[in-house]
Amino acid sequence: MEGMIAKWYTANTGKSLDEFAKLARRMADQLEPRSIVLELAPGPGYFSIELAKIGSYSITGLDISHTFVEIAARKAAEAGVHVEFRQGNASSMPFADDTFDFLLCRAAFKNFAQPVRALREMCRVLKPGGRGLIVDLRKDASIESINHEVEGMGLNPVNKVLTKLAFRTMLLKSAYTRQQFEYMLAQTNFRKVDIHAEGIGFEISMTK
Ligand SMILES: C[S@@+](CC[C@H](N)C(=O)[O-])C[C@H]1O[C@@H](n2cnc3c(N)ncnc32)[C@H](O)[C@@H]1O
Repeated sequence: MEGMIAKWYTANTGKSLDEFAKLARRMADQLEPRSIVLELAPGPGYFSIELAKIGSYSITGLDISHTFVEIAARKAAEAGVHVEFRQGNASSMPFADDTFDFLLCRAAFKNFAQPVRALREMCRVLKPGGRGLIVDLRKDASIESINHEVEGMGLNPVNKVLTKLAFRTMLLKSAYTRQQFEYMLAQTNFRKVDIHAEGIGFEISMTK
């Protein structure tokens, strides 16, 4: 079952490669050459792979799902780029303190079983002055705006219906409000945080 869902998600989001390329370019503009980068919960790895195509970064992806780790590693090999995809949990990361210059966590934070622990771990593994960015759905996104977003994903009619249903029945339920994010971030040692509403989601920037 997990494998089937992983494959469905991989095929679905693979239709939005432009989005991942755009995000990777935007992040690359803010990164020093040879930055040490973590993608937390990369799933099929599209962001990391697009970022690796742009510059000489050292990129690691950490995902709890063995299936996604396998898929992402295969996709990186096919793209001819080096990203180290490994299995592990956001709430207990297998990395030393002060390791990364930058980390990204996209469309995954709301799935974490221990969100505050994950935020604390993000802070721990970033270097002092390092920056983390969470991009995720916001709970107050309207159904109309979500439907509009899904329409733009280039999906076939069946997957369009399934994706809209997933947003309504699962994703919105686990999404957080701005207030909830503020409450969770207040329990971390980040020096600076900024929560910015963008489309159907938030971009949460955190500086250690
Ligand atoms: C919806 S996918 C998002 C994948 C990718 N970030 C993207 O933007 O397409 C959510 C991912 O979070 C991962 N995940 C869920 N809980 C996790 C945890 N505690 N630690 C690490 N990864 C986790 C899942 O295995 C899955 O790959």
